[in-house]
Amino acid sequence: MKPKRAIVLFSGAGLSAESGISTFRDSGGLWEQHRIEDVASPEGWQRNKKLVLDFYAQRFAKATACEPNPAHIAIAALQKKFDVVNITQNIDTLLERAGAKNVWHLHGRIDFQKCERHCSIFSDESGEFDCNYRAQISSPTQLGDKCPKCGGQLRPDVVWFGEAVDMRHDYLRTLIAKTEIFIGVGTSAQVYPAAGLLPLFRATPEKYFIDPNPAYAMLDGYEVLGGAASHHVPLLAKRLLEREQIPGRFE
Ligand SMILES: NC(=O)c1ccc[n+]([C@@H]2O[C@H](COP(=O)([O-])OP(=O)(O)OC[C@H]3O[C@@H](n4cnc5c(N)ncnc54)[C@H](O)[C@@H]3O)[C@@H](O)[C@H]2O)c1
Repeated sequence: MKPKRAIVLFSGAGLSAESGISTFRDSGGLWEQHRIEDVASPEGWQRNKKLVLDFYAQRFAKATACEPNPAHIAIAALQKKFDVVNITQNIDTLLERAGAKNVWHLHGRIDFQKCERHCSIFSDESGEFDCNYRAQISSPTQLGDKCPKCGGQLRPDVVWFGEAVDMRHDYLRTLIAKTEIFIGVGTSAQVYPAAGLLPLFRATPEKYFIDPNPAYAMLDGYEVLGGAASHHVPLLAKRLLEREQIPGRFE
C-alpha cells in the first residue's frame, strides 16, 4: 500500500467561529471586550490573577459548551486518505472532539493547567523557577489552586503575548520536507511566530487558504477560497478525497 500523502492544516480562531467561539480581531471579537495586556500577558497576570483566571474560566465554559462544526468534522475525515497534521493556534479542543488525531496546539489548550512557574519567564525575589507541573482539568483553575509539586499558583496552560512558543524546529523541518498539501484556515496571520509558518511552507506544491477576509499579502502561490470555514473546508476535503481515490493518480 502506498503511504498516505501528507497534509498540514494550519488553523486559527476563524475555524471555530461558526461553533460560537469568538475570534480575537473580528468585530465583536474578544479584544473589543478585553485588553490584551490585562488578560493575556505575564504582566497582566502579575497585576491581577483573579481577572485573568475569570477571563479563562469564561473561555473554558464557552469551549466546553460549543460543538465541532462541519469544518472540524471535514478535517478529521481527511485522515481516511491522508496523513494529516493539524497545527492550530486555537486553545479549544474542537478538532480533537471531531476526531482529529494529530493536533499540535501552538498556543496551548484551555483544558490544561500548569504551574505559574512552568518553564516560563517567571522569577521573583528568590530567583528563577522552572516547575514542569501540567495537568488536564475538568473545571477552570481558581485563585488559590496550588501546584502539587512546588506550591505555586496554577494558571491556564496557554501561551500569552510575550511568552515563548515552542516551535519544535527539528520536527517542523521534517514536516516541511514531507508535506504535499498545506491548508490555512481562519487566521489573520498577525500573531508571530505562528504566522511565520506561512513562508516556511512556501515550497509546498499545493496550498490553499480559507478565510472570509484572507491575509492577501502572504498568499502568493495559494488557491484562496474567500468565505466561511464551514462552507469551504468540507468542499475542499471532498475534492481532495475524491481525487485521491482515482487509481494511479499519484503513483
Ligand atoms: N477558538 C480559539 O481557541 C480561539 C479563539 C479566539 C482567539 N484565539 C487565539 O487567537 C489568536 C490570534 O490569531 P488568529 O489568527 O487565530 O485569530 P484572529 O482573531 O486574529 O483572526 C481570525 C481570522 O478568522 C477569520 N474568520 C472569521 N470568521 C471565519 C469563518 N467563519 N471561517 C473562516 N475564517 C473566519 C477572520 O477573517 C480572521 O482572519 C491565536 O493566538 C489563538 O490562540 C483562539
